[in-house]
Order: sequence, then structure tokens, then C-alpha cells
Amino acid sequence: VTRILVTGASGLFGANVVMAAVERGAEVTALWHRHAVRFPGARVDLTDSAAVERVVTEASPEWIIHCAAFTDVDGCEADPPRARRENVEASRALAAAARRVNARLVYLSTDSVFDGERGNYSESDTPAPVNEYARSKLAGERAVLDELPRSLVVRTNLYGWNLQEKSSLAEWVLSRLESRTRVPGFTDVRFSPLLVNDLAELIFELVERRAEGILHLGAADALSKYEFAQAVARAAGLDASLVDEATLRGSPLRAPRPADTSLDSAQAARLLGHALPTVAAGLDRWYLLRKSGFVERLKAARGG
Ligand SMILES: NC(=O)c1ccc[n+]([C@@H]2O[C@H](COP(=O)([O-])OP(=O)(O)OC[C@H]3O[C@@H](n4cnc5c(N)ncnc54)[C@H](OP(=O)(O)O)[C@@H]3O)[C@@H](O)[C@H]2O)c1
Repeated sequence: VTRILVTGASGLFGANVVMAAVERGAEVTALWHRHAVRFPGARVDLTDSAAVERVVTEASPEWIIHCAAFTDVDGCEADPPRARRENVEASRALAAAARRVNARLVYLSTDSVFDGERGNYSESDTPAPVNEYARSKLAGERAVLDELPRSLVVRTNLYGWNLQEKSSLAEWVLSRLESRTRVPGFTDVRFSPLLVNDLAELIFELVERRAEGILHLGAADALSKYEFAQAVARAAGLDASLVDEATLRGSPLRAPRPADTSLDSAQAARLLGHALPTVAAGLDRWYLLRKSGFVERLKAARGG
């Protein structure tokens, strides 16, 4: 695949997708909105369907990797109409534009489409979102598959290095551990997160295999957020005893959160012909990326 359009290129996942695509020699058009980036591309508000149509027609990509979304879970709870515009209607407009230029599309979805009562969810399990963010992401999946039935919908959970100032979970834990500040870790939330750089490469493998439909991509193992914080400490050679047990149930959050959204990725592993990375392997690579200067290169792409 040579021509790729990436939405949300200023976001955690999108920026890392652009870096991975460039490394593979692809011709990339990067789209951002409020946070400028120095990748080739344009500033576009995806809720402006005419602008979406123009930029997609102009770039005429073979694949669109749709990473942009309104990802603030409590923000979505406070403003459901905005969640619909940005996560559902923008996705529908993008898929419609893709159809007109004969492009394929990958829609980034979330493990939180499930209610989290049971965990280890496979593609045949029934989604039951417990908050507005997850409801809008699920409706976005359906809008995209409606407009462009051969799209690939990837349900996942992710962490990595941000291009922007903000911190993903692993970055937040690391900065606290490095300043020897205690870290609260939820013992009552389980997930199976992937490193964004691993996830980007898995998606490119699936694109090359022309995968379509809904696929779950999670780490080979699942763990609590408490155990994840301890695993961050181990990967970075820091003191894991700084991590304290805490509970989500005791936290003042606006939107309800699902408890166990770990994913069963057996179907993806079969398609790929190999297992997905474990959390420990992902965190080792994550820490190595910083030592190798990757984070400076990523942050250098921040626009002025
Ligand atoms: N982070 C996670 O743990 C997680 C878990 C499961 C699924 N996901 C999904 O994975 C995808 C990537 O997540 P992320 O964490 O990388 O997100 P993120 O860091 O919050 O980035 C969101 C991106 O969306 C763009 N965006 C938002 N509204 C837009 C609009 N109206 N027009 C154009 N662009 C807009 C933002 O652009 P500007 O900043 O330039 O405005 C930004 O680049 C999302 O679809 C998310 O739902 C994430």
C-alpha cells in the first residue's frame, strides 16, 4: 500500500501511525484539527463534511486509517451531541468520501463497547456500552460499516508516547515513578492494552491481507491497571513498591467505566498467522523507544 490518509495525526495513536507509515515508505497525508503537526497534510475539522470530501478526493488514498475521535470519556458524558457529531457523523462522512474515491478504511474502535461484566470478549460477544463515549464509538462502527461494508473495525486499547504534551497511562505512571511519587493503581479494572507502535504494525499487516469486518486487537495477556503500573516500573527498572492499590469504585468520575474490557484476539492471531505481543513485551519496547531517541523525533513533529 503506497497512499495512506491518517486522521487524528496529532493524537496518541495517529502520530505513531504516521511515523510507522513513513518508515514503511508510504506516501502519507496526515490530518489534524486543534493541534498542528509538521507531517505533510492539512488541518481539517472532520465534522465539516464538505472539507472531508475535498481532502479525501485530493489525496485519493488507497487506505484511510481513521484515528480521530472525541476521546474524552467524561467530556462525551457531558456533551452527547458533540460525541455524536465527532464520533458518529464525522466517521460516516469520512467513509462516504472513501467510497467515492474507492478507498478502504480502518476505523479505530474501543474495548469499552462492552459492559465489562465478564472480560475476554471476542467478536461474537454483544456490545453493551455503559457510557456516551462508548455508545458513540459503537454507533461510529455501525455508520462506517453501513457506508463502506468492507471497512476494517479494530477494537483495541492502547498506550504509548504522545506527540502532544498530554500523558497516556504509561507515561503518567512513569513520570510519577521517576519523581518517586506514589502511584494509585486500580485493582478492579482489567484490560489488555497494546503499544501503539505494535498496534500500527499489526494494522498494516492486516491491511496488506485486506482484512475486513470487526476484529479485536489486544495484548496476548490481560491484567489490572494496578498490575500494569507495576509492569511499567519493571520495564523502566524503577521501584514497583511505589504503586498502591486503589479502586475505580472509590474514584469521583463523571461517566461510568466498564470493569473488565480484556479482549480475546484469537481471530486476529489466526488471520495474522502469529500471536499478539504480551503486555511485558510491549512495555519493554515502549521503554526502549525512549532510550533510542524515538520520543524526541516524535515530539519534533509538533507544529508551532
Ligand atoms: N487511548 C486509548 O486508550 C484508546 C482505547 C481504545 C480506543 N481508542 C481509539 O483509538 C483512536 C485514537 O485514540 P487516541 O488516544 O490516539 O486519541 P487522542 O490522542 O485523543 O487524539 C484524538 C485525535 O482526534 C482528532 N480530532 C478530534 N476531533 C476532531 C475533529 N472534529 N476533526 C478532526 N480531528 C479531530 C484530534 O485532533 P486535534 O488534537 O488536532 O484537535 C486528535 O488528533 C480513537 O478512535 C479512540 O477512540 C483509544
